[in-house]
Amino acid sequence: MTIEEFRSLCSALAADAPPRIAGAATLDAWTDARNELVGRTAGRLTAIMSTLGTLPPESRREAGQLANAVKVEIERLLEARQLELAASAPAAPTLDRSMPARASWHGARHPVTLVIDEICAIFRELGFTIALGPEAEHEWYNFGALNFPDNHPAMDMHDTLYLGEGALLRTHTSPVQVRTMQAYPPPIRVLAPGNVYRRDFFDATHAPAFAQLEGLAIDEGIGFVDLKATLNEFARRFYGGTRRTRFGPSYFPFTEPSAQMDVEIDLGDGRGTRWVEILGCGMVHPAVLENAGLDSTKYTGWAFGMGPGRIAMSRHGLPDIRLLYDSDVRFLEQFAE
Ligand code: PHE
Repeated sequence: MTIEEFRSLCSALAADAPPRIAGAATLDAWTDARNELVGRTAGRLTAIMSTLGTLPPESRREAGQLANAVKVEIERLLEARQLELAASAPAAPTLDRSMPARASWHGARHPVTLVIDEICAIFRELGFTIALGPEAEHEWYNFGALNFPDNHPAMDMHDTLYLGEGALLRTHTSPVQVRTMQAYPPPIRVLAPGNVYRRDFFDATHAPAFAQLEGLAIDEGIGFVDLKATLNEFARRFYGGTRRTRFGPSYFPFTEPSAQMDVEIDLGDGRGTRWVEILGCGMVHPAVLENAGLDSTKYTGWAFGMGPGRIAMSRHGLPDIRLLYDSDVRFLEQFAE
């Protein structure tokens, strides 16, 4: 290439650049113009500069200065145009006001806790207070004091989580009956909510740890009619006044007679109403009163035990108890008040 040819390439670029830059109407078009004119890889100036080595050595100095002057001028024009475009462009949206808000998330009580609280509130109005007992319990409170015979299957290693040295994870809340009778003189009316543990499978109807709610009433002259009346009143308040209840015979070593209470419930599965067992109950066995240090010729009483998880299932028509023990918020948030 000759210096004349190089000069004319430079002046052509210098002439084309101003209208090309002025014609860029947007920042994107400006970027295209810059790349075309002075872009490092494919720009026209780069192409011109790459011919420097083909010029006669004595012309290279002049050529270099010429190309540099063109470059400086084009960059000045580009910068000025960029400022113009930036000033007139609408502000880039840093905040999208049309984006849906992220709903604020509130914690809520668990459906089983809701049932426990509701039942406690009902019994509080009936004159009951809350009693609590340890989850790691002595064998005697869990079984012996409650009149379990030594060979009762519930005491089997396969059913109970033994901790050693006569301790175990309580299999029911009934030991709280004995602890309460030892600690407070009659009249007694207590409700004992708490967790219990059994060596059980974790399937649709069993959980190795679950909540129970124990009730105990001890006084002089208490009979089975008091038990029925109280539990019927509870069912009326909890399930609604039109719900029917029935009592059937049952067996527990610590109550005599023993009963189960069923409530007529529509589980919402299209099969209409059916009888659902909601609790076990009975008159406190005289041996239990004596084991707890009470005079069984003077005092009588009744007790019941129910599973708030099962009650929550019956109320909401839940098919699987495991739903209550995993922490899937999509399930749990349906119960938030
Ligand atoms: N403890 C019994 C159970 O776990 C329930 C019960 C409590 C029955 C009190 C009668 C009286 O099955």
